[in-house]
Amino acid sequence: MSQSLILKNLWYFVMHSSFLKKGKLQGKEIAGEKIVFGRNEKGEVFALKDNCPHRGVPLSEGWFDGKELQCCYHGWQFDCTGKCTNIPAMADKTFDTSKIKVFQYPVKEVNDTIWIYIPQNKLQIQGAEESFPDLLIPKEEKFLFVEKVTMPTDIDHAVIGLIDPAHVTFVHQSWYWRSAKKLKLKEKNFAPFEKGFKMVRHKPSSNSKGYSVLGESSTEINFQLPGNRFEHIQVGKHVIVSITCLTPINENETELNHIFYSTIGLVHYLWWPLRYLGKQFIHQDLGVFRKLKRGLASKPTLMLIGEPDMQARWYHELKRQWDLSQQNKTPFENPVKPQTLHWVT
Ligand code: FES
Ligand SMILES: [Fe+2]
Repeated sequence: MSQSLILKNLWYFVMHSSFLKKGKLQGKEIAGEKIVFGRNEKGEVFALKDNCPHRGVPLSEGWFDGKELQCCYHGWQFDCTGKCTNIPAMADKTFDTSKIKVFQYPVKEVNDTIWIYIPQNKLQIQGAEESFPDLLIPKEEKFLFVEKVTMPTDIDHAVIGLIDPAHVTFVHQSWYWRSAKKLKLKEKNFAPFEKGFKMVRHKPSSNSKGYSVLGESSTEINFQLPGNRFEHIQVGKHVIVSITCLTPINENETELNHIFYSTIGLVHYLWWPLRYLGKQFIHQDLGVFRKLKRGLASKPTLMLIGEPDMQARWYHELKRQWDLSQQNKTPFENPVKPQTLHWVT
């Protein structure tokens, strides 16, 4: 079986809630599927396949009155669940339009973030509930939006760039963060976790000034399929949660979204400078990804070498196991074993 580039039967991060305004439709490609997003009368998010079932025109190009979507070609109308409610040109008013349905994707809005479930088979969408990730903050709390960028590479390169410890020294060197001259041997314990693995809770490294200003702290980082990195930092009784979500747009592009939560009041006063630092970090990655894209154009042979690349290996192995479990309809078995990894950064 050849490995799928884009995994199915998983939840993908779509956007921060602030981007989806009531009364507006938004077309967006996710995992190679064209989808139209909106909010119904109650403000609840919906997601439909972005093709009119008549001749396939994107529904996102049509009209939306907050209740019904209307196709811009022949004016067919649909409710927010995708059910056809009216075919204007049809003289036979006894015709049952409700048999015509646009595919409706499972969606969730949690902590001011919107997620979509991309099924392998549109006729079998049960089981979605179980695979929703833990966002690590209470139900009533909200994430702040940091940044969104489009990486010009496929999901695999984007993920590997996200979990790769070795690039940090070279891509993210800043005077306030860390300096390439002060390299240190790191030793981190890893364990399997849900649909991925975690770097077991530890004190942040002493050459990261960004952390030491906060005082006594500890951090736990986990990575989970399809491409999300969750960082939970404990500072005394306070909590910081920083999440990076990678969502494949298609085979060539991946969207990165960064969201942030903190119980530290000061963070809200310092939000603009903090957000600026976060954005800068992400744009450093984007810069190297643009160069990587040029390099990959000639399809070079690549390698994953030693412990610094072990997490990338795990990622590929996790993908393979997920794919297998979904094809064979068997429980997913996490292939990662507890291990201590070493690297110099
Ligand atoms: S294509 Fe949409 S109404 Fe005809
Ligand atoms: Fe990075």
